[in-house]
Amino acid sequence: VYPNPAAGAVAVAQRIAKLIRDKQAKGEKTVLGLATGVTPIAVYDELIRMHNEEGLSFKNVITFNLDEYYPMQPTSAQSYVRFMKQHLFDHVDIDRANIHIPDGTLAESNIAAFCLNYEKQIEELGGLDLQILGIGRTGHIGFNEPGSAPNSGTRLVTLDDLTRTDAARDFGGKDAVPTKAITMGVGTIFKAREIILMAWSKKKAPIIKKAVEGELSGEVPATYLQLSEHVEFILDDPAASELT
Ligand code: F6R
Repeated sequence: VYPNPAAGAVAVAQRIAKLIRDKQAKGEKTVLGLATGVTPIAVYDELIRMHNEEGLSFKNVITFNLDEYYPMQPTSAQSYVRFMKQHLFDHVDIDRANIHIPDGTLAESNIAAFCLNYEKQIEELGGLDLQILGIGRTGHIGFNEPGSAPNSGTRLVTLDDLTRTDAARDFGGKDAVPTKAITMGVGTIFKAREIILMAWSKKKAPIIKKAVEGELSGEVPATYLQLSEHVEFILDDPAASELT
């Protein structure tokens, strides 16, 4: 638990930078699972600073984003492709061929094959070294909403009403928020060698309490993380304020 989001975000960025540098020293690539949303922005800001000022290179980094709205054009203001370019990829030396984000432009009939291939690509690279996560007020990780199975893989899902309410501001109204998304599954996330879930602010305190101390339940998918020995929650004081 950190006194403020900036301190927590810097700690996460340092972990990521260390992982990248350690693997690079061994001539290995780093496979990162990335999240969008407000929560990781300060982490990306710090990584960009380290790239500019401390020579942190992303040349040996391969990324897989958790999710994307469906349908979604990559050029849309709300797309996660655009978000990632704006907040990270356009500012570092990552090879564009190493970036993977679920494709919101697919015909529905092609989604299942795309999702299987997403899993296969991660597996063939030896799995995710580190997955970073935010948490939604429904308890979702990625877009694994209440009802998601613990062994779920990458797939097309229906967004929870509360998630669409929370996204309404970005879309200029709830009606404009897509009803679906493509997301890595709980099972996909679980296979990562390290998982870091971040949450900042009082708004996240009730769901953090449920995720960390609540009964394990598919109704709060983040509770599945209680079963992992490789997970860490990085919080600011307000987000941790309801923990006993
Ligand atoms: C984003 C994602 C979501 C968000 C969550 C929190 O890729 O998978 O699970 O992490 O909705 O969003 P923010 O950070 O905007 O509160």
